[in-house]
Amino acid sequence: MNVAVPEAGGPLVLTGEIEILSADGTLLARHTETALCRCGQSATKPYCDGSHERACFQDPGALGRFAAAVEHLTSGPVRITLRPNASLGVSGPLELRAATGDAVVRLEKASLCRCGASNNKPFCDGSHKTIGFTA
Ligand code: FES
Repeated sequence: MNVAVPEAGGPLVLTGEIEILSADGTLLARHTETALCRCGQSATKPYCDGSHERACFQDPGALGRFAAAVEHLTSGPVRITLRPNASLGVSGPLELRAATGDAVVRLEKASLCRCGASNNKPFCDGSHKTIGFTA
């Protein structure tokens, strides 16, 4: 099973079958475990480089509102697409677990914040445009 946890004040930690793709669909990397930047400050995006500590990234790791949850997940890898200057596009089975341990969302499609500014973390709410996020 593919699992993602938005760590409190830290990265999105993923385990399972994870594929990282560029916006044009090119496979960039495969992982069984990785940590993706959520604060928007990493110098090694999409990966976490620990910059969240210097940036004092504040987020409890809870799950925001999400309307497209599914009951049962399919099998196979989850694909994470790096949307230019925007979110992480999720396609494929993923169980998202709150770092607070009190919520789980199963999804097959989602848009996750990687700029640090969303008011509905870990989901993207379009705030990357407001802050002029570049990546
Ligand atoms: S990537 Fe942060 S709000 Fe969209």
